Amino acid sequence: MVDAIVAEGLVKKYGRLVALDGLDLRVPEGTVTALLGPNGAGKTTTVRVFTTLLTPDSGRATVAGIDVLREPRRLRSRIGASGQYAAVDEYLTGFENLEMVGRLYHLGVTRSKQRARELLDRFDLADAADRPVKGYSGGMRRRLDLAGALVANPSVLFLDEPTTGLDPRARLDLWDVIEELVAAGTTLLLTTQYMEEADRLADAIAVIDHGTVIARGTADELKTMVGGDRIELTVDHVGSLDVAREALAELAVGEMHLEPGLRRITVPVSDGSQALVDAIGRLTAREVKIHDVGLRRPSLDDVFLTLTGHEACESVAGQDDPADGPTTEGSAR
Ligand SMILES: Nc1ncnc2c1ncn2[C@@H]1O[C@H](COP(=O)(O)OP(=O)(O)O)[C@@H](O)[C@H]1O
Ligand SMILES: [Mg+2]
Repeated sequence: MVDAIVAEGLVKKYGRLVALDGLDLRVPEGTVTALLGPNGAGKTTTVRVFTTLLTPDSGRATVAGIDVLREPRRLRSRIGASGQYAAVDEYLTGFENLEMVGRLYHLGVTRSKQRARELLDRFDLADAADRPVKGYSGGMRRRLDLAGALVANPSVLFLDEPTTGLDPRARLDLWDVIEELVAAGTTLLLTTQYMEEADRLADAIAVIDHGTVIARGTADELKTMVGGDRIELTVDHVGSLDVAREALAELAVGEMHLEPGLRRITVPVSDGSQALVDAIGRLTAREVKIHDVGLRRPSLDDVFLTLTGHEACESVAGQDDPADGPTTEGSAR
């Protein structure tokens, strides 16, 4: 598959601060990659390099086969970008904002107006089209900003934290819109701090920390990297915990974790659903009453904490078998 977005060894320093520290990234054409990382990781800096707004100190980047440093002008007409902070003019109407973008892309007056109306319809902003953006909600601004990124029908799109600051409802709406876009074949690099967002929208996830990619893979691969599944079981009486521990010892692939106060035992297992059936059978045979039982796959939050080492999560600590999942780089592990 052809890579629509490529970065090799990008370095960007602000004085002594190293914002990008040899960043490598590839996004195959027609796919979605999420650049997932905390505040200050270097997400916006990366997007600014790809969208020609920032010159790296070293390294190479191409988008749609065009070198960002050699042909920034040609590139700009081929890409769409929507920023972390919605870049819309407060005093213009939604329609005027989009029309202006069309003019900037030299679409001509008629085509610009036509395109603005189309996009306002598509993003459910037709009713608000002729009102100043000042009165728009956060969700409406984001949709307008995203519409602006699509005016010139780009084949490659960059969305920098598209849903940060939105309420849950507005976030879900925007996810739907983004999913539609991607179904139409647009290549997308999206940055996010939200694990669920990466999980929901992206084919591949690159975890970024301190200006470098520390892990990449699908959401499932990254989850596997942290360790396997766990059974979380609550018994009826604290006195049954020891019996449960003995009964489940054979299923555990790592250390079991007991929380007597919660009457809970957590058991790392390899084949989650089969182990769950086994566990229930074993406990029933020993007449241990189960109050609650569930299978827990590690969340992307667990993955992130494990990889970056920030606030390492106790329940996944000590499992260190990434097996054949995704690749890790750098010194994070
Ligand atoms: N214009 C700037 N001048 C100085 N430091 C900057 C500038 N822009 C970003 N930084 C720093 O570079 C690092 C990466 O920032 P950024 O790319 O914005 O991270 P993210 O988007 O992941 O939150 C941060 O430490 C940030 O403070
Ligand atoms: Mg940012």
